[in-house]
Parts: sequence; structure tokens; C-alpha cells
Amino acid sequence: MDKLLICGGRPLQGEVSISGAKNAALPILCAALLTAEPLVLDNVPALRDVDTMLTLLQRLGVQAQREGSQVHLQADALTGHEAPYELVKTMRASILVLGPLLARTGQARVSLPGGCAIGQRPVDQHIRGLQAMGAQVRIEHGYVVAHAGRLQGADIVTDMVTVTGTENLLMAATLAEGRTVIENAACEPEITDLARLLIAMGARIEGHGTDRIVVQGVAQLHGARHRIVADRIETGTFLCAVAATGGDITLRDAAPETLGAVLDKLRDAGLEITTGPDWIRARMRGRPRATGFRTSEYPGFPTDMQAQLMALDTLAEGTAVITENIFENRYMHVQELCRLGAEIEIDGHTAVVTGVAELLGATVMATDLRASASLVIAGLAARGQTTIERIYHLDRGYQCMEHKLQALGADIRRLS
Ligand code: UD1
Repeated sequence: MDKLLICGGRPLQGEVSISGAKNAALPILCAALLTAEPLVLDNVPALRDVDTMLTLLQRLGVQAQREGSQVHLQADALTGHEAPYELVKTMRASILVLGPLLARTGQARVSLPGGCAIGQRPVDQHIRGLQAMGAQVRIEHGYVVAHAGRLQGADIVTDMVTVTGTENLLMAATLAEGRTVIENAACEPEITDLARLLIAMGARIEGHGTDRIVVQGVAQLHGARHRIVADRIETGTFLCAVAATGGDITLRDAAPETLGAVLDKLRDAGLEITTGPDWIRARMRGRPRATGFRTSEYPGFPTDMQAQLMALDTLAEGTAVITENIFENRYMHVQELCRLGAEIEIDGHTAVVTGVAELLGATVMATDLRASASLVIAGLAARGQTTIERIYHLDRGYQCMEHKLQALGADIRRLS
């Protein structure tokens, strides 16, 4: 299994390019199921989760070819309607085929994702919404089995804000008969990006980016070309890294307008940030200041940045109080950060981080995607050598992370 070896203590300097957003690419790939015509997607990140989704789509009969960061998809002859357990267990986002498959073919069989490392993560809201649109849904042998004639527009209020739930219902509603209103919808930039693609395919959508999305269903959608929005979590991860190591970096092909809460917190921590339409420059001089935060839905501080900003707080002047409000078990990185010398106490959903003057390199184990990123940040800032095991988690969501960090002057390499 691959490992990362990091010799910490070098400031980051230079420029790197940000890749397309994983969490936008995954639903957008699934949107190919909604039409028989071709979709051309640009800026698709080269990630393991994207490969898994392409494999799943191919099993359903979608033709998919990748040329660099461009992906061509065409679902003119769907041959299957099942997302099997072997694929869903490696990537929860496989549930995103449920809505489009049901809307286009009237049937879908998708393995239940089950528990995952960061919490229970049920899909009851996806199911409830589709039932409101007239689908018959039952759980059978660990699978969500759904049937429908043409889906019917409905008024849906989700019990909580769910990102993939909103995306599934939005995609399903594009082909439903009549008007669907999704209230308490997620407002994440990835939803807006998906809605832009769907509109380019002929969907009639209003209110995306707000908590009330209105969709007027159409009989069919057509082909389109779309560029995936920049990955705000990859961007935020590099910003936390330079804040921890010191230095001066510029991130190209970024989308600063999607990072409001993250940039605010990093400025509080002492990072000097300037932005242009598609770039961010960040300079760090001296020790970071402790920065407490609470995770919440967009536009609040993203749970997917919690572990990375916590890694920065371990080195900060002062004490930071962090509250995780989205997932019940998202502090697995804490134990590993403590192996590097961090002082963190957990009480339920709250973590109290007392900054230390330095971290010391050690061997640590990555437990999930963003936890891995936090260990990379801590390793880059720690004195001496850090070895991060099980970094396959990182490859799910970061394109060439070690190469980009090498380009910024970090001493980091992969051992196969
Ligand atoms: C998405 C992101 C993930 C991010 C998360 C929160 C993708 C592919 N993944 O995950 O990176 O961390 O949003 O920003 O975009 N819930 C239910 N029932 C449901 C659906 C959700 O109880 O039917 C709960 C979840 O357990 C969780 C909360 O709602 O506590 C939010 O989850 P949700 O927004 O659905 O996360 P994902 O879409 O899985």
C-alpha cells in the first residue's frame, strides 16, 4: 500500500493550478444518464472517485471516454439499472445514479451505502423525495429498489439540508411531469454547477444556489458541453498548508467566490490573502493565530475543511474551539494529529485545540479523505520526517497532491 514520506519545515513558495471539483464532477457525470445525446465535460479531475463513477456508468451502458481532463459521455442505449454493492461501498456518491436512472428508465436498483467512517449517513431523504414524486421504493436485500412511470412534480421539504439528496431530487425533477419545488435545498456551489449543466441540457430550473429550487419538468433533455467548477476544498487545503508552513503561493484556476467562510477564517488566522477572478495569492509570515469555527451548510464553514483548519490550529498561538455540526464521527484525525504532538481534547461534537510551538514528525495513518489532507498539512509543518500510511484515501479526492506540493517546494514523496 502506498505511503507518503514528508520532511517537514519548508515554507511553500510558487504557483499551482487547482483541479475541477470532485463533488461537482460526481453528480454531473450522473447527469449523462438523463439524455441519449452526448455530454462533453471539461476540467474533470483525475481522481479515484471519478474513475469509480465512470466504471459504474459504463456498467449501466453509458459510453464514457476520457482524454486528459475532458470526458465524453453518451447514454443512448442503457443496458442496466443496478449500482452494485462492490462499487457503492467504495464510494457513497454512487447513490447519485438513483434519481437520474429512475427518471429516465423508470427503474433503479442501488445498493444502500451503509455506514461509513465519518458517520451513519442515511439516504432516507433521497427516498422520501422520490416517493413524493410517485416512485414505488422498497429496501430489499440491502438495495434501494425503485420503480416509477413518469415521475410527477411534487412539493418536497427535506428534513435536513442534504447535498447529494438535493442533487438526486433535482436531477429526477428535470424529467418529471409538472413542477417540483425542493425546499430546504442545499446551496453548495456544486449544486449550482450541476444546475448550470442541467439548464444547458434544456432543463427549466430556478432558485439553484438558494434553499428553494423550482423545476419545471420537460419531456427530454439534450446534449451539452460544460466546464466543472474549481475544487474549493482542494483550494482551501493548499491555503491551510501555506498558513501552517509559512511562505507565499498563488493558486490558479480557482473560484475564490466559493470560499467565503474559509477565506474569512484563514484571514483571522493571519494569512494575507488577495484574490482575482480565478486566482488566490496567500502569504504567511509568523505563527498562525488560533481560529475557532463551527461547521455548517454552505455558505457556512464546510465540514470538508474541518480537519485541515484543525491541523493549522494545532500550531497556532492560543486555543481554538471547533464544533462539528454535520457528521457525528468526524474527528478520527485527532488521534493521529496528537501522535505528532498536537494537544486536542474532544467532548462530543466539540474539539478544543491548544496550539503548540511545534509538531514533531511521526508515523500516522490516514482514516478518510479529509483526515488524510490534515495529516499532510501537519506533516509539512512538523519538524523531521512524517510517514502517512493508507494514503489511498487521498487519491479519492486530490489530483496529484504530492506533485503539486513538490512544485511548491515541499519535500514529499510517495513510496509504493
Ligand atoms: C456531501 C459531500 C461531502 C460533504 C457533505 C456535507 C458529495 C459527493 N459529498 O455528502 O463531501 O462532506 O455533502 O457537506 O457531494 N442525511 C440524512 N439523510 C439523508 C441524507 C443526509 O440523515 O437522506 C444527513 C447525513 O447523515 C449528514 C447530513 O444529513 O449528517 C448531511 O449529509 P449530506 O449533505 O447528505 O452529505 P452527502 O451529500 O453524503
